[in-house]
Amino acid sequence: MTSIVLYCRPGFEKECGAEIQEKAAWNEVYGYLQLSKNQGVVFFHLNNSEDGERLITRIPLKRLIFARQWFVSLTDKMTLPDFNRVEAITEQLGTEWQYADLRMETPDTNDGKALSKFCRKLAVPLRQALRKQKILTQQHDKHGAILHALFFSGSEVILGYSLGDNSSPHVMGIPRLKFPNQAPSRSTLKLDEAFLHFIPKEEWETRLTSGMNAVDLGAAPGGWTYQLVRRGMMVTAIDNGPMAESLMETGQVKHKLFDGFKYVPQKQNVYWLVCDMIEKPQRVAKLMANWLLHGYCKEAMFNLKLPMKGRYQQVVDDLQTMKDMFAEYQVKYELYAKHLYYDREEVTVHARLLSPPPQM
Ligand SMILES: C[S@@+](CC[C@H](N)C(=O)[O-])C[C@H]1O[C@@H](n2cnc3c(N)ncnc32)[C@H](O)[C@@H]1O
Repeated sequence: MTSIVLYCRPGFEKECGAEIQEKAAWNEVYGYLQLSKNQGVVFFHLNNSEDGERLITRIPLKRLIFARQWFVSLTDKMTLPDFNRVEAITEQLGTEWQYADLRMETPDTNDGKALSKFCRKLAVPLRQALRKQKILTQQHDKHGAILHALFFSGSEVILGYSLGDNSSPHVMGIPRLKFPNQAPSRSTLKLDEAFLHFIPKEEWETRLTSGMNAVDLGAAPGGWTYQLVRRGMMVTAIDNGPMAESLMETGQVKHKLFDGFKYVPQKQNVYWLVCDMIEKPQRVAKLMANWLLHGYCKEAMFNLKLPMKGRYQQVVDDLQTMKDMFAEYQVKYELYAKHLYYDREEVTVHARLLSPPPQM
């Protein structure tokens, strides 16, 4: 049986499953879900085996909010022998297809973490054997197929593949970011990951560059502001709470004690609006769309906090609110949301207009 295997944050399997099932149905692909609570892995078993490639070609991974990574299965869960695991995997693959890279993966759970050392060790002889058989190509082609080996234990693995230009470049879809010691809060990693995820590196020079002006709504103590400052930006930080002294000392931050829902920038020179206020997501979504439509900023990066129940539907509704507002003014836009690795009970959204803002 062919399945789409998706990785998500443990605890969000239902959302991840609901989303792939809905998007697959839009593409007339049907199947059934197999979820295990808190395992961070979702199986979408396809009614028709040929649909696997069709789905991972037609649906851009960046359009899926809750899936960090995915692949099409090549095998069911295989049981490996205690010895000759490499041979068992190599034999199973045959020599018909070639892959540009190998990802050794586990579920993002404590058991999975305990397995990662085993995976790293096995990766060395496995890579060698796959290269020898020409199953793994010598050069890294970023458009080539990626071979995934998802281990559930030292003797249980599923093999599959994804397409290099429609999958995450990170193992298990998780970028490993280093917490900067000088940052005032761990939240800093959320914005760091968001920039990495949503803004292509080759565009950082024009879209994330020194000298830009930014506004940070709900900025205290300054983890997000830190990311803007370290990129050389001038930041207006809006929050009634105190900002870290170290940030104020840079001379790049103006702290205003203000309600983020009422603040309006004086000059039309703000490039980035970022927002991490803990507020009703509908309210934040409307505020962000308003900033863009008024031309108060060029791009917005923000969090939508998730409710306890109906989390997938809530995000869909929030995004729809923004789409409706953009449609009312007939502007072109880009709008993507992702449950990033460093997000918890929230998703991160990036939005920008691709046509000039309307005269309002
Ligand atoms: C999750 S914290 C932000 C953390 C920050 N992004 C960081 O990295 O350090 C949320 C902040 O939003 C602020 N906040 C909540 N509602 C606000 C409002 N209406 N106006 C301004 N700030 C608000 C809170 O005071 C709090 O400091």
